[in-house]
Amino acid sequence: MEVVIVPDAETGGRFVAEGIARLVGLKPDALLGVATGSTPLPVYRALAALVSGGEADLSRVRIAQLDEYVGLPARHPESYRSVLAREVLEPLGLGPEAFLGPDTTAADLPAACRAYEQALAAAGGVDLQLLGIGGDGHIGFNEPCSSLASRTRIKTLTERTRGDNARFFGGDVEQVPRHVVTQGVGTILEARHVVLLATGAGKAEALAAAVEGPLAARCPASALQLHPHVTVVADEAAASRLDLADYFRHVLAGKPAWQALRPFGPSDGAHGSRARPGDGHGRSGTGSRVSIMSSDRDPSASSKAPTVRKPFFS
Ligand code: PGA
Repeated sequence: MEVVIVPDAETGGRFVAEGIARLVGLKPDALLGVATGSTPLPVYRALAALVSGGEADLSRVRIAQLDEYVGLPARHPESYRSVLAREVLEPLGLGPEAFLGPDTTAADLPAACRAYEQALAAAGGVDLQLLGIGGDGHIGFNEPCSSLASRTRIKTLTERTRGDNARFFGGDVEQVPRHVVTQGVGTILEARHVVLLATGAGKAEALAAAVEGPLAARCPASALQLHPHVTVVADEAAASRLDLADYFRHVLAGKPAWQALRPFGPSDGAHGSRARPGDGHGRSGTGSRVSIMSSDRDPSASSKAPTVRKPFFS
């Protein structure tokens, strides 16, 4: 797990957007897993700026939904489908055909969940999954004590999460649905690269539990410790409870050229060889994840990888 501490949310947004642009430069039809909520908005704004400035071509990208409310019509302005159309598809100039999501209006929701898992697999798997983190440690809508092996399914929101999300419903918690469909923790762990964003002091405790705490379903985000390629991007406030913050800064500041921060790049090269927890080393493929991971142990192997400048905020 690489932890990148940035001064503020906008800097983090630009950092992640530039990384996504690099990935898409190498894999133009990348499948991006996108999150909703406030946290990823600076990423989407920065991506849109790169596209409108002609610095990135995202015209072939596809996006995959992380979670969705149950009980809201698809056209409801706060359905995550609507939010993603507004915040991601439209600003990036993508049409509805670029969108993958579960049909949460289906009569048979478990079948719709299974169908979404199949659709993700048929699309080649998620190349990069963007995540926020709930104040309670959830990722997607996998609330505390979700199975760490879970797949896309129906979940019940905690009252804390409903309260947190009431701001999107005019402050009226009663308008926030109680049920959702979310990619499972196990589903999320199959993305080739996971980027967890955390901003603001309200996320500090959850982020510390996710990054430094024990692996435990109590904090579903801690399951990311099992993934071979995770980049955590946190602003100073969200990073304020990390015991190892100085170490993470020291690692970034001191990276030798052969170990330059290169969190974003081509994924595994071949569709279908999706990441599984624990298999980060020794897998075939030419992607940056392999290069980064092997560079930790074998400088000569990674010397073939292009040297990348240090992060712009250092
Ligand atoms: P937020 O939500 O970005 O709106 O804080 C994050 C989450 O609940 O995952």
